[in-house]
Amino acid sequence: MIIGVLKEDPPGERRVAVTPDTVPQLQKLGYEVVVESGAGAGAGFPDDQYEAAGAAIGDATAADVVLGVNPPAPGQLDALRPGATLIGLLNPRLKPELVEDLAKRPITALSLDAVPRISRAQAFDVLSSMAGIAGYRAVIEAAHEFGRFFTGQVTAAGKVPPAKVLVAGAGVAGLAAIGAAGSLGAIVRATDPRPEVADQVRSLGGDYLAVAEPEPDDTPDTGYAKEMSDDYNVRAAALYADQCREVDIIVTTALIPGKPAPRLITAEMVATMRPGSVIVDMAAANGGNVEGTVPGERVVTDNGVIILGYTDLAGRLPAQASQLYGTNLLNLMKLMTPQRDGQLVLDFDDVVQRSMTVVREGELTWPPPPVSVSAAPAKTQPAREVEADAPESKPDPLLRRLGVAVAAAATFGLIALSPAALQVHLTVFALAIVIGYYVIGNVHHALHTPLMSVTNAISGIIVVGALLQIGTGDAAITVLSLAAILLASINVFGGFAVTRRMLAMFVRS
Ligand code: NAI
Repeated sequence: MIIGVLKEDPPGERRVAVTPDTVPQLQKLGYEVVVESGAGAGAGFPDDQYEAAGAAIGDATAADVVLGVNPPAPGQLDALRPGATLIGLLNPRLKPELVEDLAKRPITALSLDAVPRISRAQAFDVLSSMAGIAGYRAVIEAAHEFGRFFTGQVTAAGKVPPAKVLVAGAGVAGLAAIGAAGSLGAIVRATDPRPEVADQVRSLGGDYLAVAEPEPDDTPDTGYAKEMSDDYNVRAAALYADQCREVDIIVTTALIPGKPAPRLITAEMVATMRPGSVIVDMAAANGGNVEGTVPGERVVTDNGVIILGYTDLAGRLPAQASQLYGTNLLNLMKLMTPQRDGQLVLDFDDVVQRSMTVVREGELTWPPPPVSVSAAPAKTQPAREVEADAPESKPDPLLRRLGVAVAAAATFGLIALSPAALQVHLTVFALAIVIGYYVIGNVHHALHTPLMSVTNAISGIIVVGALLQIGTGDAAITVLSLAAILLASINVFGGFAVTRRMLAMFVRS
């Protein structure tokens, strides 16, 4: 099959769906690649780089699989051949007229913005890639407009306080903004209705501002936030009103998919900000989180606050955005080309491919069934319910203590009855079990893998001990020594393999 790479139609769009780096990898999957002339020019990839990578320059709309970033222009859509598959950011949730138009054509259309937020789909999650870039760029735009340093400084001319940045919504874009503002030296705060993001905010050096206790929620997890109650919004408004009087920069990223952006900051709040303060409203394209935002525009309020409503933040880093977009697309093509034979296969039993499909061979398949996100943290059940539903899941503490006491008595009995030479060893062994239980039990789950690497040292001691015992001539001791060597070796080699994989994650390619 031939893959066609469109030249993006919207004016000012500089991203491209395939970069020269990904062309050879698409060819390895069995495809030929045709790129429209000038498609990569805006991102710094001229035609000759594509040709050097093995692509042809020509008409992309005649291809079997047509890749783009934005929805194609009407002329490009009309030129698609029957049976073609179109893949891009089609935004079917907010563009029903485009969905209707696509459904009239004998084509298949997949929308990359409909990839569900599940762990397995992260490799194709274009929205997250773009939001990460956009969050970073939002801070750079704010720094460009802001007339002062981000970092605090002590100079001969006086002390400069650090800038204070508030990030509203700590999803992908918000976390990228927190990281970027923090690394420029600002004091960063962030708020989000999902309490589980607090640790992520703190791990990036930000302070998490909680609005209220999480609300009971029975709707299925989708990896995105739900609409908040009036009560929450009233308390959040008080928090924003306080923060507006204090901070210099605000980046808003609040989003509830398929809904207009929640209004977080009112004109009255903006009026309380200091002149020269900057707001970047990342949700401008969806209606804006800030009153007074104009999509795509820079607005200066009467009190001198600059509100940026840019809707092309990811596109303002076109080479970076194209590279991540192209890699996400390549990962998707790998998934959809299981035989590596240049034949695209759409598997409707796969939840990722089903969720993305807007039209299949001329048949409307939008909207897809909802996907529940297993990766999202489990909802906490009220304690009473847990007891009623699953009494066996909570062992009786009295029984547990009794069990521990019996085991301890049995161990002491065994030690007392054993020969004197063995008593010291058994005592050390019993104490090691107790100490090991408490030490390992108190290590956070996330650190169990590095802990396993550390236990290599202990396994090494076991191997040495077993090697010393293996030659005693007693059959039972030989068998036990062999078993100890085998089990400890599994731990040693497994630990090294895991450590190697972990270290590889930090190696620059
Ligand atoms: P996300 O879903 O990862 O994060 C959105 C966050 O907003 C979530 O953490 C959610 O809990 C939070 N949120 C929801 N309701 C809220 C409320 N009432 N108050 C505070 N927080 C609330 O989304 P992502 O990918 O980070 O995108 C964020 C926004 O950035 C979206 O509106 C997206 O369209 C926009 N965006 C803008 C770009 C631009 O060029 N301007 C480029 C890329 C994304």
